[in-house]
This record gives sequence, C-alpha cells and structure tokens, in this order.
Amino acid sequence: MQIPSPTWFVGCGNMAGAMLDGWRSAGVDLSQVVAIRPSGTPVEGVRTVSSYGDAGVPPKMVVLGFKPQKLDEVVPILTPWLTSKATLVSLLAGAEAATLRARFPKAGAIVRAMPNVAVAVRRGVTALFSTEVDDARRSELTRLFLPLGLTHWTHTEPELTQIGSLAGSGPAYVARFIAALADAGAKRGLDPQLACTLAIETVFGTGWLAAAGQDDMAAIARKVASPNGTTQEGLAVLDGADGLTDLIDRTLDAAGRRSAELAEEARSGTPS
Ligand SMILES: NC(=O)c1ccc[n+]([C@@H]2O[C@H](COP(=O)([O-])OP(=O)(O)OC[C@H]3O[C@@H](n4cnc5c(N)ncnc54)[C@H](OP(=O)(O)O)[C@@H]3O)[C@@H](O)[C@H]2O)c1
Repeated sequence: MQIPSPTWFVGCGNMAGAMLDGWRSAGVDLSQVVAIRPSGTPVEGVRTVSSYGDAGVPPKMVVLGFKPQKLDEVVPILTPWLTSKATLVSLLAGAEAATLRARFPKAGAIVRAMPNVAVAVRRGVTALFSTEVDDARRSELTRLFLPLGLTHWTHTEPELTQIGSLAGSGPAYVARFIAALADAGAKRGLDPQLACTLAIETVFGTGWLAAAGQDDMAAIARKVASPNGTTQEGLAVLDGADGLTDLIDRTLDAAGRRSAELAEEARSGTPS
C-alpha cells in the first residue's frame, strides 16, 4: 500500500499522529510524507517542517489535521500549494464538505474523514464521505485506511457526523468507563494498578467476545447476570432511570450539538 507521493499533513497532533503511528506499524512507507506544524515538533519517522515553503513539491494528497477553528488561518497559506491533482482529506470535526469546497476551490477531490485515535494500534474506526471521488480514488482511499481498522464510506454527511459522535469521540467515553470501573475497584480495596489492568482487560475481552458475534449485547449480559445474582443487582443500577443508556444518549447529544456549532462557525468563518 502506497501513500500518494508526496502527502502533506497540515497539522499533526493527536489524531494525525495516531494515523501515522498506525501506518508505520503496518509497515507503510512514510518517506514521502511531510508534516507541517507551526511548532516544528518532530513527528517520528516523518520529515517535519514548520513552513510550507520547506515542504517541497506540491502535494498529491493533503490531510487537514488542525482544529476546525484554524481553518481560516490555514486557507490563505495552503491555497497557493494546491492543484486540482491534490486530494484534500479533512479530519476537521464539523467543517462540512461544502464549506471546505468554498474555502479550497482549487483543490482536487475533497474527502471528509472521521477516524478515532485507535487507528494508532490499527483497531480504529474511520468514516469517510465525499461526493467528489471517482471509483478509482475511492478504492485508493479505502486501501489507505483499511490498515488502520474498520473503514466505512457514508452515503450522507449527517451519517459521518453521527459516526463522529459515536466512534470518533468514543475512545474518550470508553476510557472514562474503564477509569470509573478501575476507581470503583480501588475504592473497594484493590490495588489501583491491578484494578486498572482488570478494567482494561474486562473491556477488551468483552469487546472481543462481542466482535466474535455469537451473542448480541443482551445475550452477553444475560450470560453473566443470573436471576437474583450479584451482577443482576449491579445491572439494576446501571439500567435504572437516568442510568447508562440515558447518560450515553445525553453524551452523544452534547457532542452532536457542538459539532453543529463547529459546522456553523466554519461556514460563517466566525469561531466562537
Ligand atoms: N483527537 C481525536 O480523537 C479526533 C477524532 C476525529 C477527528 N479529529 C479532528 O482532528 C483534528 C485535529 O485534532 P487533534 O486532536 O489531533 O488536535 P491537536 O492534537 O491539538 O493537533 C492540532 C495540530 O494542528 C497544528 N496547528 C495548529 N495551528 C495550526 C496552523 N495554523 N496551521 C497548521 N497546523 C496548525 C498543531 O501544531 P503544533 O503541533 O505545532 O502545535 C497540531 O499539530 C481536529 O480538526 C479534530 O476535529 C480529532
């Protein structure tokens, strides 16, 4: 699998860095990748520069890896380097394809990608959306993202947004759940380090079991919770009014609201 040569990462922090970690561990050749970041902080195994002038020949692919609020700062500096041959892959939460097309009229196909940080260990989820790619470009991008984990082209942009709220943000939610499980164990006398390892392995093992697909989530819970048993008592709390389902629903609602705000800010060019 070849990354288009050259590929520029404009902004290379947590998310873009996780993608590069995933590709590196998949053995992808990153010699034609350039990371452009204001701080010039080196990215492992990738030529890193702080100014576009030092990046070299114009890119065939550009990955936008900065925060959506930086869009209007980046547009005038990046635009002179773009040609119709440059595929623009935007990681920006909220910034819609039409907004990006209006800001980058000279760019080639614009693609929105919504990965999550688990791409670093090649078990990520990436949603992709574009109305501008032909079949060949779509296949090329699919091949590019597949080594990073599940890759899903959405038919609509709202679907990409919803996937962002669930899977893009998801690792943060799951990390909180692991921490809560571990903290509760430590509070009850377990060694905190052991409690953390137990919580991680429990989430990991349950995920693996769920992915095996023999049982749905209700069936897995039923296998653990015998009537009148200990787990059943615990589930009664988790499933109660204002329990986990409601909490997660409100969590995704809040993320969705912020995504809509970011979309509006990017559209109007007025970050709040
Ligand atoms: N984090 C996630 O889980 C996640 C998931 C899905 C999508 N995303 C999207 O990914 C994007 C990056 O998020 P992140 O979490 O990786 O943020 P981050 O860790 O803060 O990284 C932001 C990067 O942007 C660079 N930058 C800042 N100002 C810039 C400018 N004017 N021109 C070019 N680069 C600039 C920073 O450079 P320095 O390193 O030099 O400071 C840094 O490398 C966001 O748009 C976000 O919506 C993130």
